[in-house]
Amino acid sequence: MNKNILDINNINLGFQLDGKFMEVVRGVDLYVAPHEIIGILGESGSGKSVTVKSIFRINEEEIIIQGGEILFRNQEITKLNEKEMTNLRFKEIAYIPQNPSDALNPYQTIKKQFFELSKIHKTKISLEQIVRALSDVGIENPETIMNMYAYQLSGGLAQRVVFAMSIILEPPLIIADEPTSAIDASLKKNILDLLKKINHEKGISIIVITHDFDVIKYLANRVYVMYGGLVLEEGKIDGVINNPLHPYTVELIKCVESIENNEERFYSMEGTPENPLNFRNTCPFLNRCSERNSLCEIKIPELVEFNDHLVRCVKYIKESDANE
Ligand SMILES: Nc1ncnc2c1ncn2[C@@H]1O[C@H](COP(=O)(O)OP(=O)(O)OP(=O)(O)O)[C@@H](O)[C@H]1O
Ligand SMILES: [Mg+2]
Repeated sequence: MNKNILDINNINLGFQLDGKFMEVVRGVDLYVAPHEIIGILGESGSGKSVTVKSIFRINEEEIIIQGGEILFRNQEITKLNEKEMTNLRFKEIAYIPQNPSDALNPYQTIKKQFFELSKIHKTKISLEQIVRALSDVGIENPETIMNMYAYQLSGGLAQRVVFAMSIILEPPLIIADEPTSAIDASLKKNILDLLKKINHEKGISIIVITHDFDVIKYLANRVYVMYGGLVLEEGKIDGVINNPLHPYTVELIKCVESIENNEERFYSMEGTPENPLNFRNTCPFLNRCSERNSLCEIKIPELVEFNDHLVRCVKYIKESDANE
């Protein structure tokens, strides 16, 4: 039996737009092993959030899962009904969304929202536990905050409240979507250390989505690089950073290094990512790639194994196979 906490197999997702299906995630495979922290990296619009929202399915009825499966501890969850999903949320899988208002009821006090969780999952959550969870995520005046309404909180504070709700029941899997983007730099390390700590001490597996290579380097042991609704590269973090294979990953790392080295003019990648409406059956990075050749236009390259990574680029495929 497969021991992974999560297995996403060939998932296809999209939205209904003007009466037509618009595909935004095009056959993603992803797994999370027990006690593992994985990262998902990629430019804006690459499909990172939509992929993980499809696991949790909160306020996201509009995402259409067109194909593939999502196995949580070997149980296929894409077909679960709302009641079954409610039983899973926060108890088995927690999701800290990029936009915390997706997870909070604006017109309920924070305290009440913790009590709702305890009611749904028939476990007791005491006031002391709430205070501790809120202070664990760096909230300085938890007693005041827990009596406030969600709509009264700033984005960064609301995100930390959802963080506290996500750890209180100690679910085996936590998904953090841009956990440090809405908070002050001074708090960033605290949040990352907290994620590290719950992973280390409680064995909680974590998926962290970020634009920030430093966050991935600090936390994750494996990374998926996404672009155009596809995984373009996957591998152990050191291997991907020190020996990136896909031209897109190489470019991403050049951008980060240029900022880190404080170069006079920051390096930036030319062009912009393709809009899903214009997706074609070719390499999605084609138009921005300095190494493109005619094989890139034939079809979407397969994800193949190379030097312990998985990479989706014709450079790593035998010419005879790339033509097929
Ligand atoms: N509700 C929606 N309806 C239609 N299209 C959507 C919807 N939500 C997302 N999309 C589209 O799906 C694609 C992937 O979006 P997603 O939010 O997953 O990107 P992302 O990689 O998380 O980007 P970011 O780094 O900006 O958060 C984008 O092209 C986006 O415009
Ligand atoms: Mg996102």
